[in-house]
Amino acid sequence: MVKKGIILAGGSGTRLSPLTKGVNKQLLPLYDKPLIFYPLSILMLANIKNILIIVNPGQEKSFRNLLGDGKRYGIKIQYKIQNKPKGLPEAFILGKNFIKKDNVALILGDNFFYGQSLTNKFEKSLIHKSGARVFLKKVSKPQNYGVAEIKKNKIRRIVEKPKKFISNFAITGLYFFDSNVIKYAKTLKPSKRKELEITDLLNMYKKNGQLSYEHIGRGAVWSDAGKIDDMTNVSSFVQSVEKVQGIKIACLEEIALYNKWISKDKIKKNIKFYGNCEYSDYLKNI
Ligand code: TTP
Repeated sequence: MVKKGIILAGGSGTRLSPLTKGVNKQLLPLYDKPLIFYPLSILMLANIKNILIIVNPGQEKSFRNLLGDGKRYGIKIQYKIQNKPKGLPEAFILGKNFIKKDNVALILGDNFFYGQSLTNKFEKSLIHKSGARVFLKKVSKPQNYGVAEIKKNKIRRIVEKPKKFISNFAITGLYFFDSNVIKYAKTLKPSKRKELEITDLLNMYKKNGQLSYEHIGRGAVWSDAGKIDDMTNVSSFVQSVEKVQGIKIACLEEIALYNKWISKDKIKKNIKFYGNCEYSDYLKNI
């Protein structure tokens, strides 16, 4: 079982500058909530309560102001500082004492997933005991993503931003790993852009025949919010769904209540914490 999750919420956010000059990307709004609520809600939907958030130096306080130690949502949140954005696999080196000998999920702090079928897919994958597992999504411009070529129901190779078409299955920003990931991550060498690459890490698992995948399917939505247009598009999507259906995407209390991790009393306290706002109005109704 995967019971621990890491959210990567550091990075430089260059593509969103000047928005990210004063505020971390993951604290920027995606419609009516800070961006980090969305990946956090995905871990919570996958029944993961034990969470490590990786942040940039000097930014832990802002995340703590927002999320605290997680008790507000019936979960446990710890923080770890990444001194420089040295690449995604550094999460496992920094998170060594958090992971210990357990399996772990990694989700990128700027990734947005939505769709009813997802919870099922994640739950099915959560049982996986060893190896690495990725989630693939069909995209129209594979040249912008890390892409997996599939042959006979197996990942044949992974190519980062392929110039020549190999497939249109992008690797999304949610991964499950066994605890060998720490060992593997330590052996990685920085790439030309001086970062440890998640593709190299996944290729190590592939070489050992230990890389599996799941298709997210067309009923679900995935996007990262790393560029201005993506952020605006996803914000509009969230707004449309919320307005038309009268529900909120990534309402952390709603998920926690459903999972029986918090009581209604806790929600009353949270309403006081947020103050008079639309999010609190929604909480009053659940
Ligand atoms: P990216 O979007 O690849 O990088 P970035 O956030 O620094 O943005 P830009 O390319 O515009 O400069 O990162 C994906 C996610 O992973 C994002 O949520 C930030 C996070 N991240 C870290 O926490 N540490 C890192 O070392 C890197 C590379 C990313």
